[in-house]
Amino acid sequence: MRQLVQGLIAILLLSLSSLSYAQCDGLIPDLRELADEGDMNLGFAVNNSDINNPDLLAILLANGNMVVPANALKFGPIHPERDVYNFSSADQIVALAQANSMTVRGHTLVWHLQAPAWLDPTSGWLDLTPQWRERWTRDELIEVMRDHIHTVVTHYRENFPGVITQWDVVNEAFRADGSRRPTIWQQVIGDDYIELALRFAREADPDVKLYLNEFYDSSVSLGEFALGRDPTYENSLGASAVRSDCSDVPRCAAVRALATDFVQRGVPIDGIGFMGHHFIFNDDWPFPADYESLAGWTKSLGLSWALTEVDVGLRANVVGTPEQERDQGLRFRKMVRACTRAENCDTVVFWALTDAVHWQRDQGFWDGATLIRDNGEPKPAYWNVYGTLYRAFLSSTTSVPDQGLSAIYNEASKPTK
Ligand code: XIL
Repeated sequence: MRQLVQGLIAILLLSLSSLSYAQCDGLIPDLRELADEGDMNLGFAVNNSDINNPDLLAILLANGNMVVPANALKFGPIHPERDVYNFSSADQIVALAQANSMTVRGHTLVWHLQAPAWLDPTSGWLDLTPQWRERWTRDELIEVMRDHIHTVVTHYRENFPGVITQWDVVNEAFRADGSRRPTIWQQVIGDDYIELALRFAREADPDVKLYLNEFYDSSVSLGEFALGRDPTYENSLGASAVRSDCSDVPRCAAVRALATDFVQRGVPIDGIGFMGHHFIFNDDWPFPADYESLAGWTKSLGLSWALTEVDVGLRANVVGTPEQERDQGLRFRKMVRACTRAENCDTVVFWALTDAVHWQRDQGFWDGATLIRDNGEPKPAYWNVYGTLYRAFLSSTTSVPDQGLSAIYNEASKPTK
């Protein structure tokens, strides 16, 4: 009898352990549950209008465990006058994250774009006039930067402890040819502005992770290409060349050299953010080899890396064909898989919740770049991400059959809950 009871208990335990929590209620997990299972930060960039829209909010809460204010923490919005800080928009997003046990990537403290007029009336369009350059001395601008970083980082450390876990301290500091972008910070302060910014951020928060956020591409950077921001990209890189090592990509080599110097000299830095703005009409990239190289050199420096602004654009004003959407899905998959496979990557952020609220919808360079259609329906890209996370984090611990999984993520829409 005792043996029979023990046997029954064993069978019961066995069948329970082979059921995932998702199967227990007959549901498939959302992306958030998969990310939580893998201790991965899976985030979406949002504006306040997104989280005030109930449909978009539901998408965010089901799919992300991290939020990134797409604009609210940038210098212009949060520091509109020299002596005025306006935290209200960013606070709303950070409070939402806190209330829903999500973390926040702080984006971004030092950048050339979206600067307030009192700081840079060109808003960072790089043609800083000599008159304006003369307006700030190096010491004054260092003081402006110190005050900004200390005030913003301290505000979040004190008012929302532990919610912002990562800061993009400096954003887009390099051009495609590996030279320093001639921003107001670079021109007035000089080469050491990046190091100073990292040190100020560390002074304000000893625990938060500090990142440099950069374009990283084996060929042209779509963002800069489309926006015509960087005249050096064309000369430095051939659009079709396959480049699999950081040394072959001038911008990557420059970031690596800087990060190496920082690590050697003890300048505070925890990771490198790579944006991941991509486009389906450019050859085959992102190339998996790029990310392997990336994972390797960051790891050898003891740094993390993150995919911080992932989107994959289709042509503007054209509805994507099924082939294009499949191609798009594979590119999302390559990027997410590169992160799940790397020991030192724990963060992927998608740069908008749905196509309807993607920033390029209005700017018109590309479109259809997210995981989810205007009407909230998941695209093939969503299921590619889904399958990648499922395989990475759940398939070894549950009994969902493989064919069941492919059926799930090949479907056009998700089974209703
Ligand atoms: C974008 C925002 O999403 C837009 O709303 C805004 O108009 C321009 O900036 N690289 C970055 C992000 O680091 O901050 C940019 O975000 C996209 C490119």
